Amino acid sequence: MPLLEIKNLTLDLAFQGATARVVEDVSLQIDSGETVCLVGESGCGKSLTALSIARLVPTPPARYAGGQILVGGQDVLGMSRAELRRLRGRVVSYVFQEPTASLNPVFRVGSQIKESLRLHRPEAATDLEVSRLLKVVGISAPESRMRAYPHELSGGMQQRVMIAMALASQPSLLVADEPTTALDVTVQAQIFDLLRNLKQEFRMSLFLITHNLGVVRDLADRVAVMYAGQIVEHGPADAVLRKPRHPYTKALVNSVPKLGSSEQSLKVIPGQVPRLGAFPQGCRFHPRCGRVRPNCSVETPGLDEAQPNHQVRCPYWIRDAAGFDE
Ligand SMILES: Nc1ncnc2c1ncn2[C@@H]1O[C@H](COP(=O)(O)OP(=O)(O)OP(=O)(O)O)[C@@H](O)[C@H]1O
Ligand SMILES: [Mg+2]
Repeated sequence: MPLLEIKNLTLDLAFQGATARVVEDVSLQIDSGETVCLVGESGCGKSLTALSIARLVPTPPARYAGGQILVGGQDVLGMSRAELRRLRGRVVSYVFQEPTASLNPVFRVGSQIKESLRLHRPEAATDLEVSRLLKVVGISAPESRMRAYPHELSGGMQQRVMIAMALASQPSLLVADEPTTALDVTVQAQIFDLLRNLKQEFRMSLFLITHNLGVVRDLADRVAVMYAGQIVEHGPADAVLRKPRHPYTKALVNSVPKLGSSEQSLKVIPGQVPRLGAFPQGCRFHPRCGRVRPNCSVETPGLDEAQPNHQVRCPYWIRDAAGFDE
């Protein structure tokens, strides 16, 4: 049984008097010990998908409009408050983008980690365990660091503390939502190294949202690409990155400058990110697609099998024997 199974998840969000379908028919699976990455432009629904795993999206304004989320075979959308409390922490833990938003500025970091232990593993709420967790996340001199207040630590250190708090409950699944966006590049690389080691050491499953395709290549077993609330491509990370099928995935991969090329900046994908609640008819990517055909504004493509375990929401690469390769 997979650790996590999201089946046809659909989420509506009420805003400004209207309702928008922000996540539509999203299916994903994470097995034990596996790392799955979710990528896509800002606002496409990645965080809402990730938060849904532990039913953390507030309802209202949101409404689960369809689908199922199974964690260890248990239906999250049908769980009682008590069951949800057990799920959050013990089974699924989160690391968010902004440590400053999640750490309480008035408490020492050690006591915040201890609080997390008290909640989930009360028998282990000791200085010794706090110090061990700080060491696990690569913080040296943990005995003195645990007495520090968050503002006395660098951004990278704060993010390590956040990860220690998430690990305190010994979760089976760690969900990391752009855990390094607020950090500089060197520190980002250190945090990703840490995640890679942790996942190996604890055989934890990792659901990672990131904009960094290099990290996807390094860490992910599988990758899902999201566009305007839908998954447009999903498959083994190396296959998707080496030979992307969907024109949007191609554009994303092409937006990363090749190592050693003279081009330094990311290429921008032309066109506007579709506005929430105003998704184009037919294929949602068609107004920005370099390969657009007359049918694309009419027919709504399904997510179809391109190769075994590799799905694409675009029928045309299949009809072209050679795909969309230039
Ligand atoms: N509380 C809210 N009220 C109104 N709109 C919201 C709310 N939360 C999310 N949204 C909207 O829902 C859509 C999906 O949001 P989500 O946070 O999942 O995007 P994302 O892919 O994580 O983006 P980013 O890369 O910027 O984090 C966005 O258009 C966002 O503006
Ligand atoms: Mg987000």
